[in-house]
Amino acid sequence: MSAEKATLTIGDQVYEFDVLHGSVGPDVIDIRSLYAKTGMFTYDPGFTSTAACDSAITYIDGAKGQLLYRGYSIDELAQNSNYLEVCYLLLYGALPSQAELADFVERITMHTMLHEQMHNLYRGFRRDAHPMAIVCGVVGAMAAFYHDSTDINDPEQREIASIRMIAKIPTIAAYAFKYAIGQPFVYPRNDLSYAANFLHMCFSVPTADYEVDPIIERAMDRIFMLHADHEQNASTSTVRLSGSSDANPFACIAAGVACLWGPAHGGANEAALNMLREIGTPDRIPEFIAKAKDKSDPFRLMGFGHRVYKSYDPRAQVMQQTAKEVLDLLGVENNPTLQVARELEKIALEDPYFIERKLYPNVDFYSGIILDAIGFPTSMFTAIFALARTVGWVSQWKEMIADPQKKIGRPRQLYNGEPRRDYVPLSNR
Ligand code: SDX
Repeated sequence: MSAEKATLTIGDQVYEFDVLHGSVGPDVIDIRSLYAKTGMFTYDPGFTSTAACDSAITYIDGAKGQLLYRGYSIDELAQNSNYLEVCYLLLYGALPSQAELADFVERITMHTMLHEQMHNLYRGFRRDAHPMAIVCGVVGAMAAFYHDSTDINDPEQREIASIRMIAKIPTIAAYAFKYAIGQPFVYPRNDLSYAANFLHMCFSVPTADYEVDPIIERAMDRIFMLHADHEQNASTSTVRLSGSSDANPFACIAAGVACLWGPAHGGANEAALNMLREIGTPDRIPEFIAKAKDKSDPFRLMGFGHRVYKSYDPRAQVMQQTAKEVLDLLGVENNPTLQVARELEKIALEDPYFIERKLYPNVDFYSGIILDAIGFPTSMFTAIFALARTVGWVSQWKEMIADPQKKIGRPRQLYNGEPRRDYVPLSNR
């Protein structure tokens, strides 16, 4: 038990609480006994100062712009690893041996197909449905097809549900894309890498061979790695809260997909590219900077700012390098959108408003430029983010379910509504 204590004085009462220490990062004050001792709650809408759990998966240092997956730095992983190796690392806590990686890749590869009956689900949607609406629905529907992996108390079922979720999410997302553009579904293939398989399912057609460009494959895999996990962000917290009620894993991941869709969160990549296109040319940047600073205008610079990063998002740096690589490969010289993005970043980072608030580009600022160059419509951007984040959601869910201290999440409130009052009969109103 930690010897260090935090004291709280309320009136003439002094209360003591343990200070708990992690391996790195801020200590926490254990306030689990606060309500019992004081009859009071803490008040922290938006959880700006609240640790909702302890975890060993991902660590972020917002001041340093550092992101670690199980202790390994994101820039090292982006340079040297690949998405399925990162999946293994996030799920099991260590880098796999060659044999362990080969076995993991084989297990994922054997679960990429959807139950054939699931194809009918897509036909129930309008063709112009947003892909995230389809992905959210189909992920939740997995509980209706994979009954043998919904018992969260069975470790084997938890494992197979995790493998199925990670293996099938590219197929689910690719089918949402194909359905939207009116092309036939393309089955996954066992001879392709995870990233190449997704690109093949999205861009190949029955009438012609489709070879995945290795540079594009590498860029796609790197985008997946950069989005894989990110501590207790809004969608991961949604997955954890859903899982705390012992809901089945597919329902929990569907809840995470729903939360990620918001433009303040994963929907920002779609919104950021739309914003860059709306700006159009560098000479219009000052107009949008002014809008972003205008408190009476709800407009914000999409892809800018972060609750945790108060310095450059390390993922944005890798993403910017990758954007240049992909555009150079595709011979897209002087891409106007990338030019606007770079000029916007330069101007914003010299503006006192952004400097004072420590607002920097985040992961969503450059990712859309790459995805657009690869050939995805903006409507697919957040679905690709959800695809990549699935391993993070699954890893965090598994960690929570296996935690002996697991309790159902049930926050309280500061009530400012009407005190008890008597009913007034209609005849008297
Ligand atoms: C993701 O949590 C995660 O880890 C998320 C994520 C992940 O991997 O899971 O990293 C992915 O969601 C990245 C963020 C993507 N969202 C966007 O790019 C949308 C634009 N950004 C903002 O909406 C905002 O920056 C948030 C939501 C990201 C963070 O909001 P906070 O932490 O609640 O900050 P805030 O709203 O309190 O802003 C602080 C100040 C405010 O000004 P003041 O009231 O102090 O004068 O900064 C301003 C805000 O108005 N501000 C912005 C701004 N972001 C914050 N002003 C203009 N443009 C912006 N983008």
